[in-house]
Amino acid sequence: MSGQELCERLGVSRTAIWKIVGQLKEEGYQIEAVKNRGYHMLFIPDVITEAEIGSRLNTKVMGRSCVCYEETDSTNIRAKKLAEEDKPHGTLVCAEKQTGGKGRRGRAWSSPSGEAIYMSLLLRPQIQPVHASMLTLVMGLAAAEACNEVLGEAMGEKSLKVQIKWPNDLVLDGKKIAGILTEMSVEMEYIHYVVIGIGINVNTKSFPGELEKTAGSLYQTAGRSFARADLIARCMKCFEKYYEIFCRTENFSVLKKSYGDFLVNTGKMVRVLEPGNEYTGTALGINDSGELLVEREEGQVVAVYAGEVSVRGVYGYV
Ligand code: BTN
Repeated sequence: MSGQELCERLGVSRTAIWKIVGQLKEEGYQIEAVKNRGYHMLFIPDVITEAEIGSRLNTKVMGRSCVCYEETDSTNIRAKKLAEEDKPHGTLVCAEKQTGGKGRRGRAWSSPSGEAIYMSLLLRPQIQPVHASMLTLVMGLAAAEACNEVLGEAMGEKSLKVQIKWPNDLVLDGKKIAGILTEMSVEMEYIHYVVIGIGINVNTKSFPGELEKTAGSLYQTAGRSFARADLIARCMKCFEKYYEIFCRTENFSVLKKSYGDFLVNTGKMVRVLEPGNEYTGTALGINDSGELLVEREEGQVVAVYAGEVSVRGVYGYV
């Protein structure tokens, strides 16, 4: 594109264009400047910035307000802080690297730079607090759909599918590729805010130590890298769609079918680890409250609530 056209489109001077091109080059963009012809963008780096996400975003609310960090302690912590500072519903917080990434049950979430997605979405839902934990399932559903879109485009029809291990792990080829941590601030009957944090192993080539056995990535299955900002924008799009449906009913009556299509547990033997109560059964699917229905060995069907429960595959992680 000619310098002239860039100036006209953006309403800035030639000097401003020249400065910004210099800045972009420092960020890793390759831009060729040809005398009397203009600028040619040769390479867009896989960076997570407000500009890269914003230019791909196709939503009304989700991610429209966006804050990206090169490095931070935890995007969940940042999102909660921003919530206290009155940032709007739908604010997205991302980081290239987390120094204190948090997993469920007080565990750490390994968060090296440049290969994965670490993001948290701030929501101010006007729903009953007891229904808010189901939002984790909504994010799982949205992220699974978005991951499958990019995987399908890369590998074609025969691509392996990203599935959901209830309640909130994404699995691919028998390994965990994403986890979700939801935190909220609730007062009596009122939700101040909900923060849904998700970590997705996108372009991770290998994992340290013991993690290698259970963790996987889109890259490891597809054998190629993915533009992380594009995947973030797709997650936001899918989440917005499912969030609207969820808020109308405050349950999974409408989403149950879509969620079930991704559910890896269905028909499999699972071991339910409730505090003080452990049992084995066959997972049947989820009910309208997002609980996992498990048929116990003696034939009784129980609904398992996500809260304190851990569900393990009897024959391995899934
Ligand atoms: C799990 O244990 O499976 C949940 C992992 C959640 C990790 C994500 S990464 C982005 C957000 N920030 C955090 O500190 N944790 C979540």
